[in-house]
Amino acid sequence: MSSMEQRPLGRTGADVSVIGLGTWQLGADWGDVDDEAAAEILDAALDAGVTLLDTADVYGDGRSEVRIRKALAPRSERPFVATKAGRRADPFEAAQYTPENLRAWIDRSRRNLGVDTLDLVQLHCPPPAVYSDQRVYDSLDQLVQEQAIAAYGVSVETVAEGLTALQHPGVQSIQVILNVFRRKPLEELLPAAARAGVGILARVPLASGLLTGRFTESTSFAPDDHRNFNRHGEAFDVGETFAGVPYEVGVVAAREFVDIAGGAVPSAFALRWVIDQPGVTSVIPGASTVGQVRGNVAAADLPPLTGSQLSDLERLYDERIRAHVHDRW
Ligand SMILES: NC(=O)c1ccc[n+]([C@@H]2O[C@H](COP(=O)([O-])OP(=O)(O)OC[C@H]3O[C@@H](n4cnc5c(N)ncnc54)[C@H](OP(=O)(O)O)[C@@H]3O)[C@@H](O)[C@H]2O)c1
Repeated sequence: MSSMEQRPLGRTGADVSVIGLGTWQLGADWGDVDDEAAAEILDAALDAGVTLLDTADVYGDGRSEVRIRKALAPRSERPFVATKAGRRADPFEAAQYTPENLRAWIDRSRRNLGVDTLDLVQLHCPPPAVYSDQRVYDSLDQLVQEQAIAAYGVSVETVAEGLTALQHPGVQSIQVILNVFRRKPLEELLPAAARAGVGILARVPLASGLLTGRFTESTSFAPDDHRNFNRHGEAFDVGETFAGVPYEVGVVAAREFVDIAGGAVPSAFALRWVIDQPGVTSVIPGASTVGQVRGNVAAADLPPLTGSQLSDLERLYDERIRAHVHDRW
């Protein structure tokens, strides 16, 4: 295994690679990724030194977790596997977050991943009231005591939700959308998490691929790809698709982003920006090919951005993006 910078994930005692792998793509919602491709993507990431995988019980209704279990079975070294719970709630409402349901969701992930103790369970963008429900944290504390989970954290849609979760001392990590087109967490959430010793996992770092610079006004996406079916938030929070930036706005802004990146590969440049933000533990780009995994890992070897690149990116955000996202999430 090659070496990559590792950082401590909050107070969990675990170190994780600064570039992780998001595995929503290995479940569903991104067009079809078959078993063989999924195995190759996972192997490529692990071979390149990735020691953090992010998954969820609902990605392909467990398929992403099961594929991770299979990929890890022949390996001696285990990465840190962060999963999520809570979106199996049916109906999707705060009253469903009972001790019994949380336990059942988590037990299912333990079976899917083939482990007694899950490394980390993140509440998966639950209804907002859940973040201030002490009974939910008590249930999770109990599951930690029983060693069903080693640690828990939250995955949030908004900065405000992250700040609420930070008030609960058992929370070890916050997963949030952070990228060149999503700067609001820099203002309050990242400094507050750093002060509290809580890890930050940065998701949707490429704005669902916009920041690769390879999409145009006429790019089309498969019917079962959320970049087609959730473009206006039809299925879940629109912030998860292109980071909430209207597609046509994002394509134009991405062209300027590519110019600012100069000679650097835009996707790697975008990831380097994320991991250099104070308070970030790790970034978790998703990938649908082995080549993407390798390109993303290479971001760990890029030099930091220059002062003028940083200010150009800030100007780009202020001019083209801020009005669409800043006050919403
Ligand atoms: N609510 C939540 O907790 C939540 C929500 C969203 C995401 N997540 C997690 O965060 C992870 C990352 O977010 P995301 O996958 O939604 O968005 P993302 O990482 O911003 O975008 C991933 C997409 O970017 C493209 N891409 C990736 N690497 C590339 C490269 N090197 N070159 C060219 N294109 C590249 C691929 O598009 P193509 O597929 O078109 O090739 C890939 O599917 C997810 O996998 C998931 O684990 C969690």
